[in-house]
Amino acid sequence: MSLIKNNNPTQTKSWKELDQHFNEIKEQSLIDLFKKESNRLAYLSFDEGNFYFDFSKNHLTKKTLSLFASLANEMGLIEAKKTLFEGQKINKTEDRAVLHTALRNLKNKPIILDGESLMPLVFAELYKMKDFSTKLREGQHLGYTSKRIENIVNIGIGGSDLGPKMVCEALKPYWVKGITPHFISNVDASHIDPLLQKLNPETTLFIIASKTFTTQETMTNAMTARNWFIKHASEKEIAKHFVAVSTNSQKVSEFGIDLQNMFKFWDWVGGRYSLWSSIGLSIVCTIGYDHFIDLLKGAEKMDEHFLNSPLESNAPTLMAFIGIWYNNFFKTQTQAILPYDQRLAYFSKYLQQADMESNGKSTDRNGDKIKYETGQIIWGEPGTNGQHAFYQLIHQGTKIIPCDFIAAALPAHNKTDHHDKLVANFIAQTEALMKGKDILTIKSELGQKNISNEEIKALLPFKVFEGNRPTSTLLMDKLTPENLGSLIALYEHKIFVQGFIWNVFSFDQWGVELGKQLADNILTEIKTGDLQESHDFSTQKIIKKYLSHKNKF
Ligand code: F6P
Repeated sequence: MSLIKNNNPTQTKSWKELDQHFNEIKEQSLIDLFKKESNRLAYLSFDEGNFYFDFSKNHLTKKTLSLFASLANEMGLIEAKKTLFEGQKINKTEDRAVLHTALRNLKNKPIILDGESLMPLVFAELYKMKDFSTKLREGQHLGYTSKRIENIVNIGIGGSDLGPKMVCEALKPYWVKGITPHFISNVDASHIDPLLQKLNPETTLFIIASKTFTTQETMTNAMTARNWFIKHASEKEIAKHFVAVSTNSQKVSEFGIDLQNMFKFWDWVGGRYSLWSSIGLSIVCTIGYDHFIDLLKGAEKMDEHFLNSPLESNAPTLMAFIGIWYNNFFKTQTQAILPYDQRLAYFSKYLQQADMESNGKSTDRNGDKIKYETGQIIWGEPGTNGQHAFYQLIHQGTKIIPCDFIAAALPAHNKTDHHDKLVANFIAQTEALMKGKDILTIKSELGQKNISNEEIKALLPFKVFEGNRPTSTLLMDKLTPENLGSLIALYEHKIFVQGFIWNVFSFDQWGVELGKQLADNILTEIKTGDLQESHDFSTQKIIKKYLSHKNKF
């Protein structure tokens, strides 16, 4: 990208200063920082819309932020943000613009790409989804025996699955009555089979969601669904029960779906950024059009915040800086996403694709091999479940794992006792991770028990929590469609900033192609029994083992 002033971040003046600063700060504990700066919250926490952000329990000082701000300036972040929103072709290796922000541009700011005005296209597709979902809900679009559609099955994978699935799960309290969504992604028939067994073809609608409409898993599942359907109904009824969401009308047509039943999107929408497009059709049908618009509104608000807020209170940018700080200086490798909300059960899985497929790169934008760390490993589970599984390692393991703690202050249910307990845990964990538990406290606790001094001495080392484990807290008022939209867009922009600073192309995903190619080749060998010599001996043997098992049946 020509706008980058100095495109290897580690060669910038600010990076070198950050290196020195890291040496100054690395021995200072979070507790030390808190003792030194009673006003940390003044610059490390803020309210933004319906969110409260607290970054104070991180190894940061004013100097850290100011050095990151200089790094962003040296690299040209402000100009880079403009290139994103204006629709410049920043996905260079695919020669595409990256315009998921256009999909939530409800204020209808003009966006022109290759001489074409995009917003009329975006709104036309939105209205088509509105019309379709209204007809479903109001019983104007009926199944082949004139029954209402009650089950919607989204068949897709990756970005054509994870986003809609995550959003539908998160917004369960907003589901329209009488329609239940299902999500099928894995080519393993153990996924689709049990679902088909319990569905009634008369009341089921399949949404085949695939940007390319060539993805092996999706096409296989779509064909299985189609075959199941025509066992019960004639082929001409397919039109009432199958719709497609894709950028590839030719393949949709070849599959046998009428183009009138196709919802479009465009190559400037990346798969993992596509839930805002007609890939969100399952969302629209599940929560209704108005709530989908609220989701877009929330994302649009975050877009404006990202574009216009100063760095000191720019949530996605600060989160990006914090991630780089740990990843590249503390060498932490992973980032945990810990929503204290069961409705966000799929959020970390969704972010895994969004983040790791975007920034899991080792070639820079000049085509050179990268010699510093890039994308973090993203993982997590909702609290409190995770507390009883992997938190032991976060508290007392040898690795430092920066954690994002996310919660909603108000629940969607009236079981206050449950929610108070959930939130108490949410808050307690961030405090425990920072403060730990020192020897004196443990001694005094053990001293109150009826055990000898020797036993106390022996137990002490195991009971000590060093603390000093960094966390960020995101507290929203409620998990509404609008807030969820903001939350997702927050992470999208964090990913953008990190990819930009790491000097990688965040919007391609060539790394997933090799496996697909080899799988196709091996599939042919499995089907024909004609093994290629070109495999290494380990792979050869595994194929033979599989074939010998397979041939026994
Ligand atoms: O293989 C990775 C990937 O290309 C993702 O980027 C994408 O979200 C997913 O496959 C599904 O692709 P499609 O929507 O074209 O079926």
